[in-house]
Amino acid sequence: MEINRQFKLEVLNDYEAMSNAAADQIIELLHHKPNAIICIAGGDTPVGLMNNLVEAYRQNKVSFNKCRFIQLDEWVGLDSNDKGSCYDYLNTYLFDPLRIPEENIYSFDAKASNLLGECRKMDEYLNEEKGIDLIVLGIGQNGHLGFNEPGEDPAKNCHIVELDEITKQVGEKYFEDGASVPLSKGITLGLKQILEAEKTVLIASGEAKASIVKEFWYGEVSRRNPASLLKTHGNCSVMIDYAASSGL
Ligand code: GLP
Repeated sequence: MEINRQFKLEVLNDYEAMSNAAADQIIELLHHKPNAIICIAGGDTPVGLMNNLVEAYRQNKVSFNKCRFIQLDEWVGLDSNDKGSCYDYLNTYLFDPLRIPEENIYSFDAKASNLLGECRKMDEYLNEEKGIDLIVLGIGQNGHLGFNEPGEDPAKNCHIVELDEITKQVGEKYFEDGASVPLSKGITLGLKQILEAEKTVLIASGEAKASIVKEFWYGEVSRRNPASLLKTHGNCSVMIDYAASSGL
């Protein structure tokens, strides 16, 4: 697969600068498309970006009353009430402070008995809405995007995933109180839906991401490193902080 020339890497001084630059992408989009469909990964990396969005909203620099949010992924068995779930991150740092109405949030019920039904509902929603305008992704230490683990088929839509060992180990950081959390499966948008987004933004911060960022940058485009597929996307910005760039 060919690397697209529109692909852009920016190394920002620190986490704050990276978060600012990524938030600006969303603010800019909302200025020209107020009803955009936006997807932001849960997890630690986007917290600064979400804080920036809330700050911009409080200063009346942007309105979120028409845009829609869709969820990227979730641990199977968890929902918005579970501290550390992907939804909990989005709700705590974004939806709640921005007072996003429930009807403008399209999420998975990862506790549903019919998980495949949840996947098909999300697929239908995205089909009807003609896909995502902007997606902000984090990168797993194994290169995963959402819960699309190494080796994943890039042609898939939403699906249920058996989580990789690295994902399970790293994932324990979200559940500090030691509560026993079933970290064995995930529900996720598929690579097809991610790669069909109009604009993709990949963010990475800190030493822990330096090695996978290096692999992403120098390595070939391969399903062994799902993030590498973004290099074929026509409109992708990669924003990393200095610490995450130490292998480049
Ligand atoms: C998690 C999530 C991803 C996230 C990635 C990086 O497991 N499922 O959506 O982007 O791994 O997370 P973090 O930003 O906490 O490093």
